[in-house]
Amino acid sequence: MGRVTVPGEGGALEGGPGQVPAEELRAAVATMMAAHWREGGHTVPNGTVYPWQWLWDSCFHALIWAELGDGDRAVAELANFLAVQDELGFVPHMTYHGDPSARADFWGRPGTSSITQPPVYGHAVAELVRRGIAVPDEVVERAVDGLRFLFDHRARTPNGLVTVVHPWETGCDDSPRWDGWCPGGYERARFRAVKGELLTTVVRAEGGAPLANPAFAVASAGFNALVAWNALELVGLTGDDGLRASADELTQVLDGYWDADLMTWIDDGPHDSGRVRTADALLATLVRPRPEAFAALADPAGLGGPFGAAGTDRREPPYDPDAYWRGPVWPQLTYLLQRAAAAAGDPVAEALADGLRAGAAASGLAEYWHPDTAVAGGAVPQSWTGLALLV
Ligand code: GLC
Repeated sequence: MGRVTVPGEGGALEGGPGQVPAEELRAAVATMMAAHWREGGHTVPNGTVYPWQWLWDSCFHALIWAELGDGDRAVAELANFLAVQDELGFVPHMTYHGDPSARADFWGRPGTSSITQPPVYGHAVAELVRRGIAVPDEVVERAVDGLRFLFDHRARTPNGLVTVVHPWETGCDDSPRWDGWCPGGYERARFRAVKGELLTTVVRAEGGAPLANPAFAVASAGFNALVAWNALELVGLTGDDGLRASADELTQVLDGYWDADLMTWIDDGPHDSGRVRTADALLATLVRPRPEAFAALADPAGLGGPFGAAGTDRREPPYDPDAYWRGPVWPQLTYLLQRAAAAAGDPVAEALADGLRAGAAASGLAEYWHPDTAVAGGAVPQSWTGLALLV
């Protein structure tokens, strides 16, 4: 078990599954979050690797601030990225606070990116309210509008799943599920070039909102599950029957994408890589808590392990436990899967919670880590790994 220090903290965290000292973990997360907080009201995922605001990261940060007892920062974090929502409801996935010219040429617009990310703001808003934090009406309304944009304006597959216009929209940037789009097989630098290219074929509304991408006509099971679940989280607050109907309808379509042999939900799209067994596909358990899917998450030969859910099933050829999005544990996915299992009363919830805490501590709150050793990968420390306090 590695022994790590969170910068600025001076202390070390040690622990194996089930034995992480809660107070030390909380102190390390609080120190990191304070260091990553930026005036104006948002938290950067990491000060050097990720110095801007990202949509789904900020949703997780809001939850962490709420857990740390700072409702004001929790609300500011959400209000801040929702403030750049456009007239159709589209929410950009990145905001370049303080330097609107940053990457403006790349995105074709100043200040923000021109694609979105999983709408975890539905869950974040609902969870803040459940915790007794006053969320302004405007934030709730913007969250609803963000979901409505995806239901009403985003292109669907013929069967009715919501498409993404780019791999980055799923948050799972280099998932083996996109390998079909990387000619000659996945290679990180080559796929980076592909991702740049894929931005050029996005079809946009007059105001710039991303509507479709004929070159990436894919509906990720995980993304669709997050759309449906986040809508239902908001419905729990607002009682909005229209939003409930949209979410229920989408969930029913998603049912058709369960593959009982592979024990995963598969994507709708032109390539077989959409069948690779990955952790994010099992996010569908948030809306359809299947015991077989939880069993797949518990299986140590598949996605299970001592430090949370492996990002890719160990039996899949692309599985690589050290490579970005190819196999490591992602804490934000483990958090969401843990919520699904806990809500369903499935015992894997406990293993996921223990694994998340242990991996967070042993990796020094890393962005992601090796599923069997918790050796850190990516940015260290990374704000969303504070989610370990919430399970
Ligand atoms: C990486 C991740 C993405 C995340 C971003 C900031 O690009 O793939 O999901 O939002 O980093 O943490």
